[in-house]
Amino acid sequence: MKRIFSGVQPSGNLTIGNYLGAIKQFVELQNEGDAFYCVVDLHALTVPQDPDELRKRSREIAQLYLACGVDPDKATIFLQSHVKEHAELGWLLQCVSYTGELNRMTQYKDKSEGKSAVHVGLYTYPVLMAADILLYDTTHVPVGDDQKQHIELTRDIAERFNGRYGDVLVIPEPQIQEFGARIMALDDPEKKMSKSAESEGSRIGILEPPERFRKKIMRAVTDAENEIRFDPEKKPGISNLLTIYSMFADVPVESLVERYAGQGYGTLKKDLVEVLEDKLGKIQQRFVQFDDQAELDNILRRGAEKARAVAEATLNRVKDAMGLVRFG
Ligand code: AMP
Ligand code: TRP
Repeated sequence: MKRIFSGVQPSGNLTIGNYLGAIKQFVELQNEGDAFYCVVDLHALTVPQDPDELRKRSREIAQLYLACGVDPDKATIFLQSHVKEHAELGWLLQCVSYTGELNRMTQYKDKSEGKSAVHVGLYTYPVLMAADILLYDTTHVPVGDDQKQHIELTRDIAERFNGRYGDVLVIPEPQIQEFGARIMALDDPEKKMSKSAESEGSRIGILEPPERFRKKIMRAVTDAENEIRFDPEKKPGISNLLTIYSMFADVPVESLVERYAGQGYGTLKKDLVEVLEDKLGKIQQRFVQFDDQAELDNILRRGAEKARAVAEATLNRVKDAMGLVRFG
């Protein structure tokens, strides 16, 4: 039986990159095993957050999981801070992690570059992520390409722990799609689409209205050839649009390339806008249907209880292995 775990930070408006790279997989995987989908609010605190905004966004991400098709009767949806075992295992794992390996994390290097003051939490962030994953005896972690290095670190930490203390932790596998694991920025297809990038024109939010995203698609950077071909190296812009189109419309890229042979970029872009209007429109409608905050809190409360039962058992195993005293 697969055990699936993943998380999304409530640190901005989720983009179609988050959807295609991660959440779409959450929905598919909930039918293949025992799935835990977490809103990682503790991770969001690694950079300054407005408290009211953080509270609002944390619920919003859970509501978006539901709107995108995560079913709370199949998967466990919860907030990271509701299961205190995450922070506790995070500490224990810090004591088997090396500064050398954290220094190599590219996300840390990017986020701290040029800053005079960097919080310790940003540095130890990947160890908390390892705790998230390892607490649930996770076998599969569906994520976008940018998280690969963090999952490799998680595996290294777990293997080291098992080497020192015995066979306690399950070694997880990253589940990264071959296609769509890295959706690129619309205004600069050399960069990843990110919810925190400065440029609004770089991304489309899952909850964004058509009048806003239409312009961004029509202005998306392509190339001077005007030939529709899938070639991420030489034609990153048009290949990114083909990827987004293909994944939302559920049509293979080859079929799109055939369909648009000899046509201009404008036609492809216009049709992509229509596809997005339809698919995002449906998610947005469902988002409104799940707006009952009392019901949402019930789902999160139930989720936290289920998650805690699993997390507590793993943490106890870890404590016993490390030599901490527990009363039976
Ligand atoms: P984050 O926004 O960093 O909390 O990311 C949540 C999930 O979305 C992670 O699994 C990321 O790897 C994934 N993700 C974020 N941006 C992209 C992107 N541009 N393309 C594909 N996946 C992404
Ligand atoms: N670091 C991930 C990101 O920025 C979020 C995350 C935290 C996560 N804990 C996790 C993802 C555990 C998968 C599994 O996208």
